Amino acid sequence: MSQPDTILIMDFGGQYTQLIARRVRELAVYSEIVSYTAKISDIRALKPKGIILSGGPKSVYDKESPSISEDFFTYCKDQAIPILGICYGLQLIGHVFGGKITSYPKKEYGKTGINVLKQKGLLEGLGATELVWMSHGDQVTKLPENFEAIASSETCPIAAIQSKTDQIYAVQFHIEVNHTPKGMQILRNFVFSICKCAPNWKMAGFINETISKIQDRVKNERVIMAVSGGVDSTVAARLIEKAIGDRVSCIFVDNGLMRKNEVAEVKQNFEEILKLKHFFVVDASNLFLSRLKGITDPEEKRRIIANTFFEVFEAKAEELKGRGGKIKFLGQGTIAPDRIESGVTSGASAKIKSHHNVTLPEKLSLEVLEPLALLYKDEVRQVGKELGIPEDFIQRHPFPGPSLAIRIIGDVTEEKLKIVRESDAILIEEIRKAGIYNKVWQAFTSYLPIKSVGVMGDARTYQNMVLIRMIESQDAMTANFAKVDWDLLERIASRIINEVPGVNRVVYDISNKPPATVELE
Ligand code: XMP
Repeated sequence: MSQPDTILIMDFGGQYTQLIARRVRELAVYSEIVSYTAKISDIRALKPKGIILSGGPKSVYDKESPSISEDFFTYCKDQAIPILGICYGLQLIGHVFGGKITSYPKKEYGKTGINVLKQKGLLEGLGATELVWMSHGDQVTKLPENFEAIASSETCPIAAIQSKTDQIYAVQFHIEVNHTPKGMQILRNFVFSICKCAPNWKMAGFINETISKIQDRVKNERVIMAVSGGVDSTVAARLIEKAIGDRVSCIFVDNGLMRKNEVAEVKQNFEEILKLKHFFVVDASNLFLSRLKGITDPEEKRRIIANTFFEVFEAKAEELKGRGGKIKFLGQGTIAPDRIESGVTSGASAKIKSHHNVTLPEKLSLEVLEPLALLYKDEVRQVGKELGIPEDFIQRHPFPGPSLAIRIIGDVTEEKLKIVRESDAILIEEIRKAGIYNKVWQAFTSYLPIKSVGVMGDARTYQNMVLIRMIESQDAMTANFAKVDWDLLERIASRIINEVPGVNRVVYDISNKPPATVELE
């Protein structure tokens, strides 16, 4: 395959770096992320037609803030490679070219109106005023030499800049999030009009490339694949199976924290519908539940679950050794957001929560194989479709590895698990009936450790509270609560209160992400 046109993204630790990469891929242009520490020789090898400098949590004046060598700009100028800075990327460009950056103690956060001062080049096709999504503490307060402002807002007069002499552009706002309605237009202008890329990258190419990468890496070794019954690990399992045939064994761990009927359904799906060879269910429920007893801290719960998973996989790998030799790799369905939020994509990003499959124990005896690590959920779904995985399966809502443990605030007990299982089953049944299951990204219930007073059959009750969360999203990096029909919510709430013992109150979560997250822990 000839090399597709490539946009390189230099990662300064922003939460949205992978999202930028994915937005470029949405335009059918290949994109790759490298650390801000990448050498010129690394950049040259990737032959980028354009480079995007990502956002990041630091301030350019911080002692340890990520920076970039002066050679970088000289190299890009010599090679005529256009540059686009986003948020921190803009401040860095401002700093390197002699502008002034000012820190404001109060962050500007959320939707803001901008005035477009130059409706040409990067901002071609935009109106005189537009809405954008800002998230920054610092901003450029004096233009760097030979730069002009091409957009401004009330609180941020230098909201976008452009070099008068070179192909360097930068924006303070985030063009990659859905909250910036014309964000994709701006990216299109950069990728196609400025960098002159051709839209020549396709998912099918990804599948073939990934299969050969797996074959090159695994060679004649064996893989134990962790499957959760969800889309990501199933698609990853299929890819690995396509690459190395029956040298992969798929393991589903029953951690005792599954939804109602889930273990039986997953087993049936794998054996009868997906027909994955070498599929095993390991019942480790007692082990997980005993280790979680009395644990209330969210990160501690996540850590225990992650470690126990890895331990169970290692033990199973050891057991399977007898059936055809040592197992070298552990396959996982890790996708981009898992890594971003766990803070492992670059040394510079902030940790939001430790996703179960990303926080590896120090002494893991297996090498991790993650064929989907760069993709987002909807891209994974696209790959799944191309691999012939049934539509029903592909449209399943995401379910987190730590399972119901992170949908129970506080310690995990059988009684609370039962409340979540039963209420969740009612919710899913009702939204399927109402025909909105495939319209929402995720719908689930959580247990809140709050008791409140109610009245049932003329008697006072003092019982538990269940929270319903339904969100709309494209990639789980940002999400809005779903504005569903009141009558439907009422039906679900009354069924939960009537049918789930121990619950007398139901609340609906109306927080968006950010600032909340999807799961409660
Ligand atoms: P948050 O709560 O981080 O969730 O806003 C974003 C998406 O990721 C799922 N999630 C996880 N998935 N392991 C997973 O496989 C995890 O540890 C984990 N934590 C959250 C969550 O359900 C949502 O779709």
